[in-house]
Formats: sequence, C-alpha cells, structure tokens
Amino acid sequence: MRFRTLDHSPEAPAGQLTELLVAEFDDRAALERFASGLDLVTYEFENVPVQSARSLARMLPVYPPPEALEAGQDRLAEKTFFQGLGIPTPSFAEVNSPADLEQALSTLGLPAVLKTRRFGYDGKGQFLLKESQKRHAAWQALGGVPLLLEQFIPFERELSILAARGRAGETAFYPLVENLHRDGMLRRSIAPAPGLTAALQSQAESYAERVMSALDYVGVIAIELFQLEDRLLANEMAPRVHNSGHWTIEGAATSQFENHLRAVAGLPLGVTAPRGYSAMLNIIGAIPEARKVLEVEGAHLHLYGKAARIRRKLGHVTVVCDDARSLDEKIERLKQVLDLRFEI
Ligand SMILES: Nc1ncnc2c1ncn2[C@@H]1O[C@H](COP(=O)(O)OP(=O)(O)O)[C@@H](O)[C@H]1O
Ligand SMILES: [Mg+2]
Repeated sequence: MRFRTLDHSPEAPAGQLTELLVAEFDDRAALERFASGLDLVTYEFENVPVQSARSLARMLPVYPPPEALEAGQDRLAEKTFFQGLGIPTPSFAEVNSPADLEQALSTLGLPAVLKTRRFGYDGKGQFLLKESQKRHAAWQALGGVPLLLEQFIPFERELSILAARGRAGETAFYPLVENLHRDGMLRRSIAPAPGLTAALQSQAESYAERVMSALDYVGVIAIELFQLEDRLLANEMAPRVHNSGHWTIEGAATSQFENHLRAVAGLPLGVTAPRGYSAMLNIIGAIPEARKVLEVEGAHLHLYGKAARIRRKLGHVTVVCDDARSLDEKIERLKQVLDLRFEI
C-alpha cells in the first residue's frame, strides 16, 4: 500500500514515511488535491472536522464512517450514544452555566470530574472536583461551555477493548488491555489484562460489537472502560488505532495498524491472538538513550520523530514475555531506564 497524508503541521511524523500534504483540514481546495488519485481515505485523529470527512466521503470512500467521528467528538453525545445501546457509563449531566453546575453537583455528588465536551485529550480540559468550594475555580479553569459533569468512578482499574470490523461486517477482538494513567495520560498498558476472565472479555466484546454495528463501522476502534468488580463502564471511544493497542505491533499475531488497513481496504482481518504477555510503556517529555532501552532483553523502542516537549508523547517501548512474572521484571527494569515512578 502507498500513502498520502494530510496534516496542518509540516512536522507531522507521517511525513517521514509518506507524501505529506500540509494544509488545514477545512481547506476545501486542499481536500480536493488530497483526494485526487486516492482509492480511499482513513484517519487516525478523532478531531478531524466531521464536515471535512463528509466532503471527502462525497469524492471517495472514507472509513471509519464520518458518523463515528461525530459520535465520539462530543462527550455528551458519546455517553448518550453508549446509554442508548444499553452500555453503562458513569452518571453525567450537561453543564452550560454556573447554575447547571450547582444543580449537577447536587445530583451527582462529590467527587466529580468537570470536562469540556469537545477537544479534550490526555487529561486536558478536565478538573477533578473534590470540594464544592472549588466549583468556581473549576468553572473558570475550563474557560467556557459546553461542559459535562461526571460522577468520579473509584474504579479498580482501567481497561480498553480494541476491535476491528471489516467492510462485510466481520469482526475481530483483541484481548482486554489493562491501562494505567497518571495526570490523565496513559503511562503503561499490559496485555492481556492480568486476571482476565472470559466473562469480562465477552462483556467488553459485546459493548464493542454494539457500537460498531450501530455505526456500520469499518476499521479499528478502541473503547476505554472502568472496571468496578465484574462490571465495565464505558468511559470513551476512539474511532482509530489507539495508544493502548501499540503493544500489538510485537505482541499480537496481527497488529492493530495492519488490521485497520486490512479492514478499510476490504481485505480479510488478521488473527488477533496475543503472542505472550506484553507491556507497553509510553515515552513522555524526554527521549531516553536508545542503547539503555535496548539493553533490556526483549525490549523494542519506537520513536515518533517528534520534538521533545513536556507532557508530549514521543514514543513507546514494548516488551513481550512468555510468562507474567518475567514481564513484571522487565517492566521494573524499563521503568528505571525511562525514569518512571509509578507502581506497576
Ligand atoms: N469519571 C471519572 N472517574 C474517574 N476517573 C476518571 C473519570 N473520567 C476520567 N478519569 C480519568 O482521567 C483519564 C482521562 O479521561 P478521559 O475521559 O479518558 O479523557 P481523555 O480524552 O483526556 O483521555 C481517564 O483515563 C481516567 O484515568
Ligand atoms: Mg481517555
């Protein structure tokens, strides 16, 4: 396959490997130049304007369908969509004024998370409210409506399900991944999630199945989940390959990237079985010494070619092991190399 990419930044990492067209997503003339000669278009960024995806879809096939972008771009629409499919979510309330916030706090209680409805990522656009007096500060900090207040979930852990759906509606699911976030950013994933049961896996697959069939989805999707005992609440979805699926490059028979391309190209989906126990650690803010990372046996280093900046994801490291115990040891060693301080 050969690729052309569209991004507003000349620094876009895809430009290292593909023909990069630098333009704004809503530049109509650029969209036409971009589409010219292509077989189809896909995206790996959920804030592509829905209108741009729709304009492209009038010229050539666009997968996943623009409706998937629309469903995921607004946290209120997204949670309403989940609930409409019978998928449980944290309780939430729409907040468009300080009075709405008062009302929502009295219904949902504390702690609660106030979030911007659009354009949040990596924990940006969120305020964890523990005390009612901080509500004015939270309102100010998020700088404008529309907002959403969510009940804070004291989850046991966070999980994600990665799934693929082909053009004829066939599906494939990766094993649930356990994710650890700090300051709203994904730090590490373990796959399959430790202690994964068939019941938990099938609950997650049924959520993904419902979402994908409602959207007539084509491609890879990720759904982020909170686990509370044996129950899964849906947090959000991403209509694209996902950071919590990066382990599949080395850790699964077919990577999420290959399965995404197979799906959008109308080819058979590849086997999603894990090759062992995988861990993925994100490289955030500073690039480690390659030699030190690769000295850890079994470690694979991925750098995206981005300039280092505080709180920016610059790459990741994956390690695959035959047993869970050696995985823990490798994670410990990698944490030292990457200077990470969270518990595994
Ligand atoms: N309602 C909630 N209860 C508990 N933790 C939450 C809640 N909402 C978000 N978080 C924490 O913040 C992280 C980022 O929030 P999320 O809604 O996924 O936004 P983002 O788009 O930034 O990923 C989550 O992965 C979770 O760790
Ligand atoms: Mg998230």
